[in-house]
Formats: sequence, structure tokens, C-alpha cells
Amino acid sequence: MSITTHSPFTAPRPLGAGSGDPGGHGGPGGSSGHSGRGGSRGHGGPGPGGPGPGGPRPAQVDPADRAQLDESPVSWRRVAALFSPYRGQIALVMTLIVGTSLLGTASPFLVRDIVDQAIPHQDVRLLLLAVGGLVAITVVTQLFGVLQTWISSRVGQRLMHGLRTRVFDHLQGQSLGFFTRTRGGEVQSRLTNDIAGMQSVITDTATSIASNVTTAIATAVAMAALSWRLSLLSLVVIPPAIWLTRRVALLRRDLTTRLQGGLAELNGIVDETLSVSGARLTKTLGIGERRSAEFAATSASLVDLELASQLAGRWRMATMQIIFALIPAAIYLVAGLPATSGGMTIGTLVAFTALQSSIFRPLMGLLNTGAQWVTSMALFSRIFGYLDLEVDVPEPTHPVALPREQARGEVRFEDVSFRYPGSHTDALHDVSVEVPAGSTLALVGETGSGKSTFAALVSRLYDPTAGRVTIDGIDVRDLSSADLAALVGVVSQETYLVHGTIADNLRLARPDASDIDLWQALEVAQIDDVVATLPEGLHTLVGARGYRFSGGEQQRLAIARTVLRNPRILLLDEATSALDNDTERGLQAALDALVVGRTTIVIAHRLSTVRDADQIVVLDHAEILERGTHATLVAAAGRYASLAAR
Ligand SMILES: Nc1ncnc2c1ncn2[C@@H]1O[C@H](COP(=O)(O)OP(=O)(O)O)[C@@H](O)[C@H]1O
Ligand SMILES: [Mg+2]
Repeated sequence: MSITTHSPFTAPRPLGAGSGDPGGHGGPGGSSGHSGRGGSRGHGGPGPGGPGPGGPRPAQVDPADRAQLDESPVSWRRVAALFSPYRGQIALVMTLIVGTSLLGTASPFLVRDIVDQAIPHQDVRLLLLAVGGLVAITVVTQLFGVLQTWISSRVGQRLMHGLRTRVFDHLQGQSLGFFTRTRGGEVQSRLTNDIAGMQSVITDTATSIASNVTTAIATAVAMAALSWRLSLLSLVVIPPAIWLTRRVALLRRDLTTRLQGGLAELNGIVDETLSVSGARLTKTLGIGERRSAEFAATSASLVDLELASQLAGRWRMATMQIIFALIPAAIYLVAGLPATSGGMTIGTLVAFTALQSSIFRPLMGLLNTGAQWVTSMALFSRIFGYLDLEVDVPEPTHPVALPREQARGEVRFEDVSFRYPGSHTDALHDVSVEVPAGSTLALVGETGSGKSTFAALVSRLYDPTAGRVTIDGIDVRDLSSADLAALVGVVSQETYLVHGTIADNLRLARPDASDIDLWQALEVAQIDDVVATLPEGLHTLVGARGYRFSGGEQQRLAIARTVLRNPRILLLDEATSALDNDTERGLQAALDALVVGRTTIVIAHRLSTVRDADQIVVLDHAEILERGTHATLVAAAGRYASLAAR
């Protein structure tokens, strides 16, 4: 029994749970939800000593996967195209799988020869040959297995790497609108879980299907060749045995799923009640007793579920054990009864029993094929879905070159309207503004009047729905994103420091900046003294896990970053509104230094910063309400004048 016919690829998750743990409920079959998808749930792997009681777990089709496929079916051609660069290696893997299956079926024939010929006739030569053959088969089969794992993992990893970088690049090319529309975490999940699942599609699902098919066929042929009588018996005995085994396993899986649901509910109650905010809520609402009752009820229901699950596990094992005892027993019976034996030799009997038990696992595994297929195809569908996302702010095919050194920095809005996708009203409606090079435009207006949208259209975070935005007369849609980014600098309320040193963060703006450049930029932004007092100076870690700068300091670092970029056009979107008065006054000097000589569009909620602008535009409900200078607008006694009076 030491030689099995399964392909020896290794299962990534322990199948060992099947060989006799009646109670564990963390088996691969029970995992639901979206993480760790892939075809690895429940396929056959090499069990120690042949088909132990732990057959393959029944695979489960996630309803979300089914829905995904209904919504966007996958073209088989497209999947094939992904694999086509690896055609040769995949063919090799398939050859190894077939070879393994064929070799596996050969060994029972050797056993038959040993029992029927070599031993009774004291044929030492035959004995040595057959025994040597048995050993060789095992060794070669295992070597094939190693090779197969190596090649299929390599193909899987390369494919995954290719897809991962393609999806990453494609997503990065999406407009800001995409990221505001997409639920947080979904993008990350796509990149990590789904693409990682790809690897297991190749190394687990594809190889397990191939190996189950070939092993089942090869074994069936070998059985028929050994004894047609016993094969007929198998035909009667095996299907119901498989059906029964699967029923019991499915029952157990359902229980496990319910058990996990119950445990999650229990955890939810603990979370909601025994956390700081939860405890506060419970106490202030006086619902402590109700919570206790809920907890007790959920806990009690778990007792029954757990019991049922444990028992079902034990039953599953018992069924398997009984079946694996019954099937050989039936064979011995048929072989032994004079009416049915048909002069069968003992060797045939022994060989047949070995084959019989090794066909069980691949057959069980094949029952999972459908579910594995759906899971894999849903994975492809999801990844293709991301790759097919249209880029709504596309790079121009023939960009007009406008290097920063040659740009004057004149900005013009020509009858620009913009509506956010899914919105029913324009965020900007028919806006025409001209900002001469080097001048300052101030945008004023209530929250939601469209000021930030205006700025976003200049830096082309979105494209206008109608009209056009130009820089030096060139439509921003015709500028390469690199040129545009070099031309336009943004300082907004939102600053983002990546995890890294201060120098790293500054060099995002200009990778080749020297330390002297960095210090100069920090000086313009009036934050050099703060950085100088830090023990590690420019090399202080900031960001998520680093030194915590105050809001004003972060703003100043952002300004230093913009100084390094030295853009022709500057967008200041409420750059100081989150700060208190004193900090703002300090920052204002830094901003004034930055503005000199650049075209500036400033959005400020405090009108003091607006007073000196060359041009003031008052936005109201997406439209321009008034325009002029501080003096003319005050004289006109309109909206601006009343705002200024406040
Ligand atoms: N990403 C978005 N998706 C949909 N609507 C948006 C989005 N951003 C802003 N809006 C809407 O567009 C309008 C203008 O917003 P915004 O330009 O941010 O105004 P302001 O900067 O003047 O406060 C508002 O009605 C706002 O609700
Ligand atoms: Mg705004």
C-alpha cells in the first residue's frame, strides 16, 4: 500500500485534518467569505498511506462568485491568452501528471507478479526485478512530483507577477474619481487576494483536475485489465460509497458554516459591549441586561451547534472507515465464492484491492471540479474587470510638449461645465475665466459652490464635461501628465506624508534635489528651524508610523515640497483653513514667498488672503456670480461686499 496513484503535488493547506480529527472546525472546506479564494478548497492530495478516511473536502461555490460570473462572463480565449506564453511549461506539467498516473497504475501489476509468480516459483530474478520496479516507480513518481510543483509554481508566480503589475499600473492610471467611488480596501483586496488566488488556480485547481482525471481513467483501465468481474463489482459498490461520503461531508460543512456564523455573532456582541465605545453606549442606554440575555442565547445555541458539528465530524470519519473496510470485504467475498471467483489468482486479488482503494480519492476530487471551476473563473472575471476599467482621464496619444521652462503659465477656462459622475447637477456650470500669466485669481464662495472642483480641473484630476481648460492656450487634455504635473503645483488642506524620512518625502517632488536644495525649500516654507531641532534632522521618520508633525507643520512640509517642484502655476485650496489664527499667520508668510512670480489660484475662506488678488471670482451654486477686484466688488455692494463686511 505504499504506492499510490495520486499525483504527488503538495496541498497548500493541511489535508491532515481529515485523517482523524473529528472536531476541528477550521478546515478548508468551511471557509467562506472573500479572502483566500482560489481553488485550493478540497481537492485530493497525497494522503499518508493511500485513501485514508479524510477524502477531499467538498468544494463550495461562493454565491458572490456565481453572481460575478453571471454579470461578467469570462471569455475562455482570454484566459488561454494569459497562459499562452507558458504553453511549453504547461505541456510539460501535463506530461508529468499523465506519467505519474500511468506509473502509479503499473505497481499493482508488479505486486501481482510477485505474489503469483515470483514467490510461489522461487523466481529470484523476477522477484528482484519486480521489487526494484516498485522502488523505482515510487522514486520516479516523487521526483516527477517535485518537478511538477516547481514548474507549476513558477508559472503561477510569473503569471501572478505579470497580472499584479498590470492591474497596479492600470489602477494608478485611473482618475481620482475612481478612488472616491471605490470602497476603501477593495482595491487592496483586488491586488492581494484575487491575484494571489491566481497562483492557486494554477498550482492547485488546474493540476488537481488534470491529475484526478488522468488518475481515475488510468486506474479504471488497469482495474478492467486485471479483472473484469471485480471491476463490475466496483461499478456497483463505488458510486453509492462516494455518494454517501459526500453527503456526510456536506452535512458537516453546513454545520461548520453555521458554527462560524454563530461564533462571529458572539464576537460581535463582545465587541459591541466590551469595548470603550460599546461600554459607553450600553451604560448610557441602560441595555446591559438585554446584552447579557443576547449573549447567553447566542452562547447556548453554539453549544448545540458545536455538539452537532463534532458528531458530524466523527460520523464522517466513521462512514469513511466503514466504507474502506466494506469495499475490500466485498471483493474478498466475490473472489472467494466459487460461483463468482472465476479462477482468480491471489495476486490479482491483492493488486485489485490496491487499485480499488486508490481510485476513490480522484473520483471524490472530480466531484469538486465544478465548484473549483466557478471559483477560478470568477477570479479571472474580477481581475479582467479591473483591467477593462476605462481610463476616464486618458493620456493624450499625441501630447503637445510644454516644458515648464518655456511655459508662461496663463490659465483659461472656456465655457467649462463639469458634473461628477452620478450627480444630477453641475458642480461647475458654464464658467469662463482668464488668469493671465503671473497673476493671482481668488475664488470665493460658500461651501459646495465648486471652488475645489475648479482647481481639480486645472490639475486635470477630472476632465470637463463641456468646454475646455487651457494652459498657454493648450488644452490640458493635450499635455502629457508629466508636463502637466511639472507645471501645476497644489497645496490643499489635505497633506499626505508617506512613511519615510523627511528627505524622502521632499524628494518625491524632486528626486535629484541635494540636501542644500531641501534646506532651502524648508526655509521658504518656514519649517527649517523645526526640522533642525529634530535629532535626526532631514532623516527623521514621518508618516503613518513616524514623527507626528502638527497640522501646520505638515502644511509647511507640503509647501516645501511644492517649492522644490517650482511649478509655474500654483493652486492653493484652503491651504490654511484647518489651522488656528496664529499658525495661519505664520504660514501666510511662507505662502506669500511661494506665490511670487507664479500664476496663482487661491481658494480661501478668510477674505484677508483674497484682498490683494488681481482678480476675484465669486462662485455660487456652480456659477460665477460676481467678478472684479476687491475695490470694485466692495463698491458694487453685492455678495462679496456682504461677505467682506462679515
Ligand atoms: N467626488 C465628488 N463626487 C460627487 N460630487 C462631488 C464630489 N466632490 C464634490 N462634489 C459636489 O460638487 C459640488 C462642488 O464641490 P466643491 O468643488 O468641493 O465645492 P467647494 O470646494 O466650493 O466647497 C458640491 O455640491 C459637492 O457636493
Ligand atoms: Mg473645497
